[in-house]
Amino acid sequence: MSSPRTSDVLVIGGGIIGLVTAWRAAQRGLATAVVDPDPGGGAARVAAGMLAAVTELHYGEQTLLGLNLASARRYPDFAAELTELTGQDLGYRRCGTLAVALDADDRAHLRELHALQRQSGLESEWLSGRECRRLEPMLAPGVRGGLRVDGDHQVDPRRLARALVSACQRAGVVFRRAWAEGLTVVGERAAGVVTRDGTTLAAGQVVLAGGSLSGRLAGLPQDVVPPVRPVKGQVLRLTVPRRYAPFLSRTVRAVVRGSQVYLVPRENGELVVGATSEELGWDTTVTAGGVYELLRDAHELIPGITELPLTETCAGLRPASPDNAPLLGPTRLAGLSLATGHYRNGVLLAPVTGDALAQVLATGELPDEARPFTPRRFGVAALSEQPA
Ligand code: GLY
Repeated sequence: MSSPRTSDVLVIGGGIIGLVTAWRAAQRGLATAVVDPDPGGGAARVAAGMLAAVTELHYGEQTLLGLNLASARRYPDFAAELTELTGQDLGYRRCGTLAVALDADDRAHLRELHALQRQSGLESEWLSGRECRRLEPMLAPGVRGGLRVDGDHQVDPRRLARALVSACQRAGVVFRRAWAEGLTVVGERAAGVVTRDGTTLAAGQVVLAGGSLSGRLAGLPQDVVPPVRPVKGQVLRLTVPRRYAPFLSRTVRAVVRGSQVYLVPRENGELVVGATSEELGWDTTVTAGGVYELLRDAHELIPGITELPLTETCAGLRPASPDNAPLLGPTRLAGLSLATGHYRNGVLLAPVTGDALAQVLATGELPDEARPFTPRRFGVAALSEQPA
């Protein structure tokens, strides 16, 4: 017998944000379904998985910092719960991060970041170039100084996505392997979706968690279309042969000629090098230029990477919002909530997003920490600034 096409909650999008929302909703006793042709895919298949609340702090983003830190604090329990439930290791590694400067301009930039971190009450330590190299001997000899941030960790997003699919299945979440084509609205209330193959899925509440595609769902009233846009990131994966280990013991990052580059070493020998940041619409081509720039910048930081096998290149789309912060919770349309727009922080924000959305779905209210991220903060003016 096929499972019924009606649920309490229907989540559109089976990336990590949709999956964590569905899992937490099902744990609250809500009959939950996820509609996605390929659950566990999306931007997390590309992401490096840095949990970088402190090293990715920017001026003007102190409110987002609060949410990022709240989610980072949840990671140890979140990872342990998922591993215990599914038997799967998430590659959660409490390795810390070292952000380094290669020239005088980078050094000034890092000094500014250090001052902002201290003003914000965050822990980071300024190191000389020599101290940086003592920590990470593979660093280039010319490194001029750096910031040691022992609280910025990593998780493997591909493993996280697989574990979330498994946790959802164990919690009774139903997967509808199809594209959600259009929202159905009945009596001024979201009532479900119609899939590309023409199937109608009905639900008491709908969560739109479609990443950068969230604004493309047909049938959304104009004033609830989420103002998200795609920001392309190209990423490389290298492999550290056993004889070279330990190559790096923590995430190492820098800004080189104005572009972010980071190297995230996994325990299994994978070394993720990311990422470009390109406003090119829906293009996900891996380009020679993107790969060249990443390798050039990573090589300036860690010259020894040229010895390593290059095992994968890929590109994905970050779902960016006008203020770089996510859109969480109820919209102006009854029955429709959003969990999208996580931009550079989707992996980090997964635990807090799951908890916040589950509370919304169970009680109708966002928890206090998530209230600043209500989609209602964007008016119609913000929506009209989005590209067509
Ligand atoms: N958070 C890293 C990135 O978006 O590239």
